[in-house]
Amino acid sequence: MVDKGPFCGTNRPADPSNMTEAEKKHTPVIECPDTVKAGEPFQVKIKVGEIPHVMEEGHHIQWICIHSGENFNACLNLTPVFTRAEATVTLVKGGAHNKSTLRVMERCNLHGQWEATKEITITE
Ligand SMILES: [Fe+2]
Repeated sequence: MVDKGPFCGTNRPADPSNMTEAEKKHTPVIECPDTVKAGEPFQVKIKVGEIPHVMEEGHHIQWICIHSGENFNACLNLTPVFTRAEATVTLVKGGAHNKSTLRVMERCNLHGQWEATKEITITE
């Protein structure tokens, strides 16, 4: 078996119901409604992670980006020390689809890129 380095691709928890401490510090936590109405704005709150990640010069979260499926929605660049690895974004879903997968990515300068997803239902 070949070990996968943290900078090789995107990291996800091996078992989301039993995360390691590193997974708890890096996997984005997505808070938003499970169901939203087409055309009505709603807030998506993101924090990295379940155990707050440090924001120090030598070790910090560099950015948080949000996609809906393959579509880019927003990206936040962070500086260490003066910020927290959190973001709140207002999204609006169209009525063309009745499901959408929010995909939040973040990058730690020492531990690579991490992803979390959340499925939401869109009603008319
Ligand atoms: Fe880290």
